[in-house]
Amino acid sequence: MKERILVTGGTGYIGSHTVVELQNSGYEVIIVDNLSNSRADVVDNIEKITGIRPEFEQVDCLDYAGMDAVFTKYPGIKGIIHFAASKAVGESVQKPLLYYRNNLVSLINLLELMPKHNVPGIIFSSSCTVYGQPDKLPVTEEAPIKKAESPYGNTKQINEEIIRDTVASGSPIHAILLRYFNPIGAHPTALIGELPNGVPQNLIPYLTQTAIGIREKLSVFGDDYNTPDGSCIRDYIYVVDLAKAHVIAMNRILENKQKDKVEVFNIGTGRGLSVLELIHAFESSTGVKLNYQIAGRRAGDIEQVWADPSYANNELGWKAETSIEETLRSAWNWQLKLREKGVQ
Ligand code: UFG
Repeated sequence: MKERILVTGGTGYIGSHTVVELQNSGYEVIIVDNLSNSRADVVDNIEKITGIRPEFEQVDCLDYAGMDAVFTKYPGIKGIIHFAASKAVGESVQKPLLYYRNNLVSLINLLELMPKHNVPGIIFSSSCTVYGQPDKLPVTEEAPIKKAESPYGNTKQINEEIIRDTVASGSPIHAILLRYFNPIGAHPTALIGELPNGVPQNLIPYLTQTAIGIREKLSVFGDDYNTPDGSCIRDYIYVVDLAKAHVIAMNRILENKQKDKVEVFNIGTGRGLSVLELIHAFESSTGVKLNYQIAGRRAGDIEQVWADPSYANNELGWKAETSIEETLRSAWNWQLKLREKGVQ
């Protein structure tokens, strides 16, 4: 048995896929989640996939004493993967203090508890949002950090700085910041996937809900951008490939292979796809026709961003492997499964 890993937000979308990959690699996983945006039966579904039931504690990362008790209950935790956070860009504009409290205090609690319980490593879920609209594409880790477009984006930037400052102050912590591009898709078993609350804000859940008839029409937000077909470009990465990057990053920390105590990696495919290209790829890979219309631009959208993932490819030995077609089919299968279960 490999080491114990604590996964905060482990019943969430990216968290649950990462728990599966950690268990598949032999790690013992303890999930902490307050279930504010996920369901307890995710733990059952993780067990169905891997055959191993992860430990689960329903605790809020804001609760310092509660988190302290988790570390005491499970001694010897070697690493934390910190997913737990509020993540809706629009909501963060309406409720900035909620976002600053949730996202900053959770991390601060963990960074205070790590030395107390001799936990050496942490992986932090960061985002390509820290680059804003990059001056050069594809974007590398050296690109300047741009002023955040939303309180949510700002929490990612500030949390990166909190980690750097804490390590610089001499705290015995090793960290890897993974800057995700746009994670999409679901596990090939269709047992876990993305479960958005209410009307989805992100493209793929809105698209698959439209395809299945829950929504009438997908709006393409803008076709007058300075891109080949006028719609925005993103780097869509399969969530299972993204999950695997966390396992490799955790191995790297625990095997003392880091070049610096804080490292940062872009986790993307290196390929930009426009919204219209994505819609057509969905239609051709699933055979399902999509009802969509061109609508006005969405406030705050970046025109185009995709990753230069070569540092992660070369240094971590990690690469996004799954085709966009397979990824989109997995998202569709997940939507079909949700209907079968009567969830959505
Ligand atoms: N889009 C549509 N119609 C929709 C939803 C989205 O056309 O109904 C477009 C958006 O305009 C954008 C693309 O699809 O061009 C992707 O949009 P998402 O909302 O899925 O993803 P974003 O790139 O906007 O968001 C991502 C992450 C956030 C992060 C944000 C920063 O999901 O966590 O980037 O820009 F904060």
